[in-house]
Amino acid sequence: MILTVTLNPSLDSIYFTDTFILGEMNRCGNPVKAVGGKGINAGRTAAILGADVTAIGVLAGINGDFIRKALKKEPFFATHFLPIAGESRNAVTVMDRENNQTEIVELGPEITKNTSQQVLDLVMTLAKKQKKEPIIALCGSANTENEHLYENYLQQFGSTTKILTDISGKQLQNVLKSSTKPYFIKPNIHEFADLLNTTVKNKQEVLTHMNHPLVKGIPFVLVSCGSDGAVAKYHERFFDLCIPKIETINPTGSGDATVGGIAFALDQGFSIEETLKYGMACGMSNALEQAVGYVTKENVARLKNEIILQEIQHD
Ligand SMILES: Nc1ncnc2c1ncn2[C@@H]1O[C@H](COP(=O)(O)OP(=O)(O)OP(=O)(O)O)[C@@H](O)[C@H]1O
Ligand SMILES: [Mg+2]
Repeated sequence: MILTVTLNPSLDSIYFTDTFILGEMNRCGNPVKAVGGKGINAGRTAAILGADVTAIGVLAGINGDFIRKALKKEPFFATHFLPIAGESRNAVTVMDRENNQTEIVELGPEITKNTSQQVLDLVMTLAKKQKKEPIIALCGSANTENEHLYENYLQQFGSTTKILTDISGKQLQNVLKSSTKPYFIKPNIHEFADLLNTTVKNKQEVLTHMNHPLVKGIPFVLVSCGSDGAVAKYHERFFDLCIPKIETINPTGSGDATVGGIAFALDQGFSIEETLKYGMACGMSNALEQAVGYVTKENVARLKNEIILQEIQHD
């Protein structure tokens, strides 16, 4: 069983325009609307592959109602979203003829101490009902004054629960400094560079930093590098993951799908090699879809066989 937590879902509006000129009136057609949220995307991915998933989180206001209705129509997973004050955020993307992408993303409703505790209680209650300890994925940003929110969650879960995180910035830094570590983290190469406060240009450079003190205590680290695949550390083992070139349609959310694939494989008890292949194949399958955070079982099964996984010596 997999529980995903999304504290800042969004209502995504994607506008297609011929041109987008700053400071001028830009007319466009009606937007394509979609539900956004890293935990929702990861959960959907794992559920499509066959996992039993409950997506947990918070929703607010009119946008929250829209998201709730849209999620209800999805056949894949159970959802449990608490109503909170404010308005779930809008995320607006403008795509012009030359594929220049401009984004405006709101902060989202505030996650108060009370809300944060209610979500934690809900996760704990659902987790306790399971015969086998669930995998818990904490995904995405939260609009909170508490820079230790996810760290506080980890401390409450304890060290025997497999917690996966797909977070960045201060929340990730604090989680990594915490005494209770997540089992798995998935920064992309930019988030990894940001975390270590250095520049990291390619996979070779990722590898040189894989034993950095900040990530040393984490059992499973996957640094995803877009179309270049990824570099992984699993306990004392290191892997270079190479992926074939594909004709992508929309790679947004590929990282979320990767987390979903990893969660699925861990829940199934697959080997590390198989788990890594699932992660890559899900990221790629998502990139082959217009929809964000969506994969097909068939594409994942096919692409999994095309991942070249090489164990590398590194100390
Ligand atoms: N252009 C691409 N072509 C093929 N595979 C891709 C591409 N982009 C991403 N992927 C696959 O998805 C995985 C995760 O992608 P990426 O590193 O871009 O994550 P991310 O930046 O966290 O994405 P997001 O935050 O939008 O979900 C990659 O390791 C790779 O397997
Ligand atoms: Mg990401």
